[in-house]
Amino acid sequence: MSTSNLPPVLALDGPSGSGKGTIGQICSLRFGWHYLDSGAIYRGLAWLAGDQNVSPEDVPALVDLADNMELVCHVREDDVAMVEVNGHVVTDELRTEETGEIASKIAPLQEVRASLLAMQRRCRKAPGLVADGRDMGTVVFPDADFKVFLTASAEIRAQRRFDQLKSKGFDVNLARLLESIQARDVRDSSRAVSPLKPADDAYVLDTSDLTIDEVVTRILDHVN
Ligand code: C5P
Repeated sequence: MSTSNLPPVLALDGPSGSGKGTIGQICSLRFGWHYLDSGAIYRGLAWLAGDQNVSPEDVPALVDLADNMELVCHVREDDVAMVEVNGHVVTDELRTEETGEIASKIAPLQEVRASLLAMQRRCRKAPGLVADGRDMGTVVFPDADFKVFLTASAEIRAQRRFDQLKSKGFDVNLARLLESIQARDVRDSSRAVSPLKPADDAYVLDTSDLTIDEVVTRILDHVN
């Protein structure tokens, strides 16, 4: 629990497809707090590296891109989030599984994470922040007032991601999505720097058999 005068934070961590994004946005609307999708920052950098022909192994060039990246997220009037990286609208490009995979390959790099840390902490503004990611409760906001870690089986997460991408018109294959989610889980949880894991003081919630409304209700009960 935060003992500082900084605005409150709800840190929402978990693996790909655990529902963090949807749940985080609903909670931020209910509380009237800001919302940080930290995955969009890693995905934005992955997109930028591809756009600038920077290899995911070229650490100095990636750090340079990260240091100078300008990422803006707007919510349009029709409630659809729009993401711009260095002035390019890349909302759809960021959501693809390929971009997620490249993001998870550059995310273990300590220098890259260090460069993106300040950008994430600057999002902590009054009246409060809901921050979703992998290390919100462990590294970025270790003093968060509330920490929730969402899990669900890989099969259920792959099905959710399939339905989500399909509804947005993407051409997707369930078996390939499951493989990609499992590979990303291994990479995200086994890396040395900021691995995906619940903070010691996190409320761990398995969402496999819960609806979105049920998850939100449990988080609100926990926060209250
Ligand atoms: O959450 P999302 O699937 O958009 O994140 C894409 C990738 O970015 C993750 O697989 C993970 O490797 C990386 N990431 C991270 N730390 C965060 C958020 C995302 O390492 N806080």
